[in-house]
Amino acid sequence: MNNIKIPQHIAIIMDGNGRWAKKRGLPRSAGHIKGCQTFKQIARYCNKIGVKYLTVYAFSTENWRRPKEEVDALMNLFRDYLKDSKNFVKENIALRFLGSNDHLDPDILDLMQTAQDDSKNATGLTVYLAINYGGRDEIKNAVKQIANKVKSGEISPEEITEDTISEYLYAPGVPDPEMIIRPSGEYRLSNFLIWQGAYSEFWYSDILWPDFKPSHLDKAIEDFNNRNRRFGGV
Ligand code: FPP
Repeated sequence: MNNIKIPQHIAIIMDGNGRWAKKRGLPRSAGHIKGCQTFKQIARYCNKIGVKYLTVYAFSTENWRRPKEEVDALMNLFRDYLKDSKNFVKENIALRFLGSNDHLDPDILDLMQTAQDDSKNATGLTVYLAINYGGRDEIKNAVKQIANKVKSGEISPEEITEDTISEYLYAPGVPDPEMIIRPSGEYRLSNFLIWQGAYSEFWYSDILWPDFKPSHLDKAIEDFNNRNRRFGGV
């Protein structure tokens, strides 16, 4: 990995947990448990190679439609992980969140707040967990807040720029992801970072998320280095 430019912000859609479990005759929740281990390994690896931000799609606003048993299993996985987050702090990794608080159990919201507070001084990687996240929901919330500012006379419609909208998203000030990775052979954005991903490079692979290894991330970064990013120019 000599002379390779490391993206400062990588985003990942952690897809394929269910299929990974099914292939082994296991319940879907077993796939999520293995997917969570993969997430921890990849976050550590990102920290090691100098990625500044890692955003992972852990639960979408649409995922509430899954069977209660699966939703409960995912929520318990978040609980366990958040209770354990001191391990991340030891590694100098900060934890933050993207998403709406609606419908999340109060104890999970408390754990999220504690994990965020405990890790606020970490200077290595910042992990953004997208929990109860939807890109359209995020933009709708930003528009509502801006509309209220217009209504109260704090800003005029003419003053609204693209930067204004970015400022009202869940993570203002965080640079847009240079890369969005989606394993498991799907080619959709699925409502993930639809504003921030306007110019992101996409990297797809057939590997199911629980099987994703640091070597796959190396390959994605290597491919990213060979892309010609023009941002609409020539
Ligand atoms: C999509 O795969 C994955 C999810 C909806 C959940 C992702 C969550 C994790 C990997 C756990 C992360 C945990 C923490 C603490 C961050 P899928 O289940 O839709 O897979 P399928 O398409 O094969 O059915």
